[in-house]
Formats: sequence, C-alpha cells, structure tokens
Amino acid sequence: MGRRVLVVGGGGREHALCLALHESASISEIHTTPGNAGTRHYGRNHDVSASDIDGLVELTKHLEVDFVVVGPEAPLCEGLADRLIENGVPCFGPQQMHAELEGSKLFAKKAMDAAGVPTAEYDVLDAKTDIKACLDARSQNPWVIKRDVLAGGKGVVVTTDYEEAVEFIERSIESDGHILLERFLPGEEASMLVVMDQSGFVCLPPSQDHKRAYDGDKGPNTGGMGAYCPAPVVTQPIHNKVLERIVQPMFSYLSSMNVPYRGVLYVGLMIDENGDPYVVEFNVRFGDPECQVTLPLLDVDVGELLFNAASDALAQMEVGFKPHHALTVVLASEGYPKSAAKGRKITGAEVALDDSSTWISHAGTALDDSGNLVSSGGRVLSVTSIAASLEEAQRSAYQRLGQIHIAGSHHRTDIGHRALRS
Ligand code: AMP
Ligand code: GLY
Repeated sequence: MGRRVLVVGGGGREHALCLALHESASISEIHTTPGNAGTRHYGRNHDVSASDIDGLVELTKHLEVDFVVVGPEAPLCEGLADRLIENGVPCFGPQQMHAELEGSKLFAKKAMDAAGVPTAEYDVLDAKTDIKACLDARSQNPWVIKRDVLAGGKGVVVTTDYEEAVEFIERSIESDGHILLERFLPGEEASMLVVMDQSGFVCLPPSQDHKRAYDGDKGPNTGGMGAYCPAPVVTQPIHNKVLERIVQPMFSYLSSMNVPYRGVLYVGLMIDENGDPYVVEFNVRFGDPECQVTLPLLDVDVGELLFNAASDALAQMEVGFKPHHALTVVLASEGYPKSAAKGRKITGAEVALDDSSTWISHAGTALDDSGNLVSSGGRVLSVTSIAASLEEAQRSAYQRLGQIHIAGSHHRTDIGHRALRS
C-alpha cells in the first residue's frame, strides 16, 4: 500500500510536484490545496489556502496523510512545518527557524558569515544612517538594495539611478526599519537545488531561470519566464567549488543546530569570470520554474525521495539522474508582470497523464462556471519538454506551446539562449 500525500500550494511548481508524485510507485493518493485546474487530474484539490496554517493542520489530520510537501515559502515562514511535526506528520519543507534563510536577507547573510560561505559584502542601513555616504562608499554601480522582508520577489532593486536608490532605501527603512545595501556581483546566475535532512544531502542538477519578462533578458523582473536543466555554466570544476565552499559548509552549519533542515535548499548562485561561485540568495523551497525542469531529470521515485527527506532517511537512498535535458517555457497572461488579464479562455492545454516527454504545468488556471479552462493569474502555465539534447527539448517545448491559445498571452522565444549561444 502506497503513501498518501498532501501538496500545499497552487502554482506550476506544485503541478510539477503532483506530476512527479503521480509517477511514483510509493504514492497511492495525492491531495492538493488549493491546487489549480491542472492538479485536479492527479487527485483531489481542497480549498484551504496556503496561508491558513490552522486550516492546513486540520486538513492534514482529516485526510490522514502520511506526509506533507510544502511548495511556497510563506507557510514555512509562518511555522507550518513546526505545527505538522508537533502533530506527528512528517513535512518536506523546513521549520520556521530555518525558513528565515528566505524570510530575512540579514538572517541569511549572518548564516553565511557563520558558515564561511562566499557572498557579497553588505551594509545594514537604518534611520540613523547617512544614506548618501553609504551609497558613495559602494560607488561601484549598480547599487544592489534588498528589503529584509518576504516581498514576493519585489524586495530587490538593482539600479544605477541615484534618486531611485535613495527613494527605495528611504521608503523601505520607513516600513521595515532597516535595509541591506550589497556589493554588485558580476557574472552569470544559476540555481542549485539541494535536498537535505539530518542524515545528508543530495545536489540536484543545476538549472538556469530567465527572470526578465522579454527576450534578450530585457524588461521588468518576473517570477521566472522559463528555465532549463542542466545548466552548462556550472561545469564540473565549478560544481565541485559549489559543493566544497557552499553546500557542505551550509549542511554542516544547519546540522549543528538542534532542529534539522528537512526539505530543499535553493541556492541562487552568481558565477564570476574566474569560475568562482557566490550565493546571491537562499530560498527554502523548490524554485518556480526550476522545479519543472529539475524533477523530470530525477531517476528515482520522487515520492520516496521527498518522504525520506521529511523523515531523516535521505542517506539510505541512492539518487540517480537521467542523462536528459529539460526546458520549460512559461506562458503569461496579457499585462504580466504589471497586471494579469483573468478569465481568458485557454485552449490546447490538455494535460496528458501518459506522456513523460512533455509536462504541462498549470499555474494561474481555473475552471469557470461552465467548466471551461480559463486564466486566473499572471503566469498561466508552463510547457516542459524532456529530450536527449537541449536543442531538441527547446524545439519540442516551443512546438507544444504553439498549440496552446490564450488571447493576449505572451512568452519568451529565447529560453535556453545562454546555453545554446555558442
Ligand atoms: P534576490 O532576491 O536576492 O535573489 O535578488 C533578485 C535578483 O537580483 C537576483 O536574481 C540577481 O539577478 C540580482 N542580484 C541580487 N543580488 C545581487 C548582487 N549582489 N549582485 C548582482 N546581482 C544581484
Ligand atoms: N524562479 C525563482 C524562484 O523561484 O525564486
């Protein structure tokens, strides 16, 4: 008899998790809350919001699930894992004290300092600080300014505009009390997802997100418009440095505490021209859309992997990877990221449960009163292709995307360009 699992969240990441759990022999029943119009294909969607901690604990008890997988960071920062563990339910996703690695940039910086992990030098500015003097002292433009709160991806400003910098700093100090000013790190970004528990850790293949809205990495920042995996910028020597300088020290640091880190640590990397990696950010969850390109490459029962990490049994497990490439393209609603047209009819996005070379992950989708599939958010869905080469994955992802129609929608046409440019 397989295990019963509850997945918390309702984006493309959670759809991808449901898909991987659906393919796992160890899983017999999948519940999702709140889910989306795509996740209902794998089990039951429930209507408890990911921000309702009491409701989530009650739902877990009512469903008698064997474990919970938490997609987004906010419930972890609110202590969902702590509450579940108190109730005897294993949780994939760290407890509140570790979720602060994402919830507070200053907490993350102090953890990196303590663990000796390379990251950008920083100053903390508050109401007493001479802002002009600080900006002058970090005169190497652009300035990198980070709010110290969970800001849904809108808490960082990278700018060469002095007025904009001062305005953002003053406004943030007024609302949050302080702010971080960081040294700008030049280089190329990559994401490394590390599954971790008390017994050990597993580095998943590195991936690369595309955060800007438009082709050529132009336009406003988004939650992510597409990704691919593995990312060749992380060569074997760089991978070794990431392991030695970042992952191993963070694992040792987190393991020295009385609460183990159980879940996935998302390491946002900047790799400089010498091939030296620095940490730009930590997240305490799978990235979205990195999750959609990483899970398909795991040559393992994903349900077993997540349950073991929630139960400190990771070291018992051999985790292999498929020698394939995955590429995902996000289809966004008209107006995204500034706004998002909702209620637009979606055609051609049927989820094929038996096709392991294409994953369609719904995100901002819902069913209208007549049962039609419609858009309900900014990033509507993503199409992931898995193939023997990155070129082939790119070609088939765009081909499948071409069959989907949403009036006014937009997507990038150059996902994978950094890896394919040469
Ligand atoms: P964060 O939320 O900390 O990941 O920052 C958002 C984005 O800002 C990152 O993905 C980078 O593109 C950029 N960024 C953050 N910190 C730095 C830095 N110190 N140097 C250069 N770019 C940065
Ligand atoms: N794709 C970036 C993130 O999930 O934070």
